[in-house]
Amino acid sequence: MDINKLASTLHPLERKILPFLTSQTTAAELSKKTGMQDVEVLRALQWLQAKKIVSLEESSSEIIDLGENGKRYLKEKLPERRFLEAISGLSSVEEISAKAKISKEEATACIGLLKRKNAITLTNNKIDITDVGREILKSEFPEESLLKSLPVDISRLTEQQKKVLSELQKRKEIIQKKQVKNIIVKPSEIVRHLSKIEIKQYIDSITPSILKDKSWKGKEFRRYDISQKPPRNYPARIHPLTEVMEMVREIFSEMGFQEMEGPWVETSFWCLDSMWIPQDHPAREIQDTFYLPDKGKLPDKKIVEKVIACHEYGGKTGSKGYGYKWNPEVARQLLLRTHTTATTFRYFGEKNIKPPAKYFYIGRIFRNEAVDATHLAEFHQVEGFVIDDGLTLRHLMGVIRDFYAKMGIYKIRFKPTYNPYTEPSMEALYYDEKRKKWIELINSGIFRPEALEPFGIKKPVIAWGLGLERLAMILHEKNNLRDIVGAGVDFDYIKRHKAVVRKD
Ligand code: PHE
Repeated sequence: MDINKLASTLHPLERKILPFLTSQTTAAELSKKTGMQDVEVLRALQWLQAKKIVSLEESSSEIIDLGENGKRYLKEKLPERRFLEAISGLSSVEEISAKAKISKEEATACIGLLKRKNAITLTNNKIDITDVGREILKSEFPEESLLKSLPVDISRLTEQQKKVLSELQKRKEIIQKKQVKNIIVKPSEIVRHLSKIEIKQYIDSITPSILKDKSWKGKEFRRYDISQKPPRNYPARIHPLTEVMEMVREIFSEMGFQEMEGPWVETSFWCLDSMWIPQDHPAREIQDTFYLPDKGKLPDKKIVEKVIACHEYGGKTGSKGYGYKWNPEVARQLLLRTHTTATTFRYFGEKNIKPPAKYFYIGRIFRNEAVDATHLAEFHQVEGFVIDDGLTLRHLMGVIRDFYAKMGIYKIRFKPTYNPYTEPSMEALYYDEKRKKWIELINSGIFRPEALEPFGIKKPVIAWGLGLERLAMILHEKNNLRDIVGAGVDFDYIKRHKAVVRKD
């Protein structure tokens, strides 16, 4: 763009700043010189930067300022000056301190200081002022000059001043340090060209009064360069994981599912026993599960007795059960739930679910696992089940396909797997075109009669559970869970990420 055209696009705020851009400066200095508000300067600088008239750099510097005592001493004089002034005629520390209105503590400090300056002598508890002392009283102490010059940027101090500063810093609350952010403004070559041309005072915008009194006649308006990209603003954003969570909630709600709610701290009963996981199952080991020191309550006796029957000999299901003696103490052990299926079974036992019914749940779960790119010790599971006459594996496949299709995941394959509480059990995988491999999506199955019998459920129940963080990782095309959750997540990514959108 030619320079005259560029000049005609300058906003009044930009024009106000321009004359002060003869050399490198800072935003703070510009506010001082132009009398503009800080926000006005910042806005104008961003516009100037977008037009490549200046470049901006952020830096932070250390400022020293007066502390509480520093402020007081500046008003009442430094205690060492008051002490020195009070000596005339007096010689005992107590008398001098009283006259100078100085505490015992301050007096001790003053004596040390003044002795080091050779301003006093102390013999047999008697204080005397020296010639040096009388001399320095006549002029300003270096400490006083420094305090008067505050606040100041540490980097601007001379070697001498730095020594004085370090002495003052040893004393109580005379000095305080502050970090301040600076925006360094570097004018570009264009500034030189702009300064050579006369920049007209354009009318900046049409207002009703300009239209009414026709004061626009014969004048020119400021040009708007609409090819210019404005500085980007990043307002508050929802965390990518929360976004995916809300999307999943929306999808299941639309599909007619009701949402469940359950506790993080569970009894082993609801997390494991209720769904026919045997008490010697490897998943119960300490290395897989976070156990808590306390025990919880078992539910209604009628339910417990049927669970015992299923575990020990299969109850009325026709199954043989596990053939061991069920221990209620093991079931009472509290833990951090390892799957949200604990809540599904609480619903079976506590909520009197009337088929047909569809429920989902998004909840936090905990597994005693080493954290790596694809495993977390604490994450969210998306759980769901449908209970109705005639449900089969086909229906389960259908629900899973429908669910993922809404997020644009179509290439899905199923394979058999094992869960103690479902039969058959089925895993779904999807083909990742980028990574050229099949990746696990979801674990699912049809609950076994041994798991349902204690709750009087006779109709088939299809159910599933998936990791929310892994889903978010897939949708955000990340290879590491820690890029989505946890302390290592890039804040810029949270601020600028492209929101995942539904594909249906
Ligand atoms: N609880 C299973 C898991 O943690 C998920 C699941 C839920 C599987 C319901 C089958 C039925 O992986």
